[in-house]
Amino acid sequence: MANKVQTIGVLTSGGDAPGMNAAIRAVVRTALAAGMKVKGIKRGYAGLLDEDIVDMDTRSVADILQRGGTILYTARCLEFKEAEVQKRGAEILRKHGIDGLVVIGGDGSFMGASKLAALGINTVGLPGTIDLDIACTEYTIGFDTAVNTAMEAIDKVRDTSTSHERCSIIEVMGREAGYIALWCGVANGAEDILMVEKYDKDEQKIIDNILQKKKLGKKHHIIINAEGVGDSYGMAKRIEAATGIETRATIIGHIQRGGSPTARDRVYASVMGAKAVDLLAEGATNRVVGYRNGEVVDFDIQEALGMHKGIDEYMYETSKRLSRQ
Ligand code: ADP
Ligand code: F6P
Repeated sequence: MANKVQTIGVLTSGGDAPGMNAAIRAVVRTALAAGMKVKGIKRGYAGLLDEDIVDMDTRSVADILQRGGTILYTARCLEFKEAEVQKRGAEILRKHGIDGLVVIGGDGSFMGASKLAALGINTVGLPGTIDLDIACTEYTIGFDTAVNTAMEAIDKVRDTSTSHERCSIIEVMGREAGYIALWCGVANGAEDILMVEKYDKDEQKIIDNILQKKKLGKKHHIIINAEGVGDSYGMAKRIEAATGIETRATIIGHIQRGGSPTARDRVYASVMGAKAVDLLAEGATNRVVGYRNGEVVDFDIQEALGMHKGIDEYMYETSKRLSRQ
């Protein structure tokens, strides 16, 4: 165990996610209550290198619990992958008296945190991504809000799809992970779910499915397509040509990343934010916080990054069984 920290830095990195503000608030207030100082680092590792660092008091996180986005801003900073740049980052943290750091982001951000840990800065990661693609945890900050936003949008598309007896391809976020697609597939009763983890690129199978469902009397055909599979507009044209059924594509896009967080995102982000500070207060470093079986847990960052998270096969099979008739 490393030495106890006195000043905690907090940053958000990678794609933003609803609930990040709740996590920031929890980090700041838990640390202040424990007698530590807190500094906010703007725009992730990019802001660290620019020394865009501000003192945070309890009022600086007032009225943010219910707001989407991140008050600390976020960025992707490719140069932080270089060892020399990481060293500079650690020196800047020391210069500002920051001896503990909470990094809210995804796997890439945790890699950065781990490098800083190796350079003597105590670090703890909080899983913040709408994609749910962090293997050590069943929950990531922002997923619940994103999936609810997408679900509501898909309900609306479904209404018009039914009225016109059309096929609708609705693209949700998830460049490398299909969890939003899978959850929407179940929540919206989609006829097909296309995810990078599963898609076999057999468009004829989709076409046959559409024609078969039409024969069963279905008034619409909803295909949820994950961003990683993409090509929704092209697919719509090809499907319409092959089936003779009017087909429209809708890309929901970044509205899935914004908006007021759900209760679940606020609560879990708050609890995990507090846990990050508790870990740093105990002298822990190179850890990532997660939720498993209803409990807050933490793992070594390397161990966490080495874990693999597959698609929930039972959920996927269930979605198919429920849309078969
Ligand atoms: P996420 O954290 O959501 O996975 P990214 O993969 O874009 O998002 O990573 C966010 C940031 O984390 C990157 O822009 C970079 O600053 C930092 N990062 C990513 N990979 C590494 C790495 N291998 N070493 C150090 N920092 C990294
Ligand atoms: O990681 C979250 C995510 O929304 C992915 O699903 C998506 O592919 C990516 O971020 C898009 O990021 P941006 O448009 O901000 O570059």
